[in-house]
Amino acid sequence: MKPKKITVNTLMEMKKNGEKITMLTAYDYLMASLLDQSGIEVILVGDSLGNVVLGYENTLPVTMDDMVHHCSSVTRGAKNAMVVGDMPFMSYQVSPEQAVENAGWLLKESGVQAIKLEGGDEVLESIKKIVKAGIPVMGHLGLTPQSINKFGGYGVRGEAEEEAKAMITDAKRLEAAGAFSIVLEKVPAGLAKEITQNLAIPTIGIGAGADCDGQVLVTHDMLGMFEKFKPKFSKRYAEMAKDMKKCYKQYINEVKDKKFPTEDYSF
Ligand code: KIV
Repeated sequence: MKPKKITVNTLMEMKKNGEKITMLTAYDYLMASLLDQSGIEVILVGDSLGNVVLGYENTLPVTMDDMVHHCSSVTRGAKNAMVVGDMPFMSYQVSPEQAVENAGWLLKESGVQAIKLEGGDEVLESIKKIVKAGIPVMGHLGLTPQSINKFGGYGVRGEAEEEAKAMITDAKRLEAAGAFSIVLEKVPAGLAKEITQNLAIPTIGIGAGADCDGQVLVTHDMLGMFEKFKPKFSKRYAEMAKDMKKCYKQYINEVKDKKFPTEDYSF
């Protein structure tokens, strides 16, 4: 039987059945296609694009044009996985009208099925408007990298009692505003568990313990491709940067030593 396209309904069903949801990032056709063939349920075109693909120091410089371009190539590679596109910094913070226009642009032009945006109370009106326009919204609480200058660093969020309480309230409000899922980034495992148990919609954790309804990692981190820094929460399943450099060096040496191409590779 042909596997079915994953939708927001599939994810709700998975939460109800206690089946863990898997999400990884992709920024291009090939990576999306490999993830899709491996059976991933959700592909996130994260604005981590800025760090791992575009070479910026943080996610702030990423533009709507960047996201439309990369989301389009990912949707061409994702046959069954649901594709969620991140809204970049300053594409939704100005007003709910700006938010719905840009969410619509991303969905129409790239073919993603849903968008993700960061924040709590301050984005509720935007979420309501986007959902009303028929666009599913994934929320993002805890460490929200677009607010790095406000936080002053990439530390764990919600350790203090007051911040933890505010996060629980924010999560409930995001759900009430119509979000279909919430990413919890770098929050204490106990807090993530409490939020997860208090919501009907699924939570997807990154550095948020084992009790979230699903997990997400940045693909370039988990493959060991991005060597600039290694977040504590990111398990490395391979050391691909090392393997790739080994291959490049072998090719360079073989060309220099006139060992490649041999007759097998010639006409
Ligand atoms: O941009 C991104 O990749 C993300 C994930 C880390 C959740 O937001």
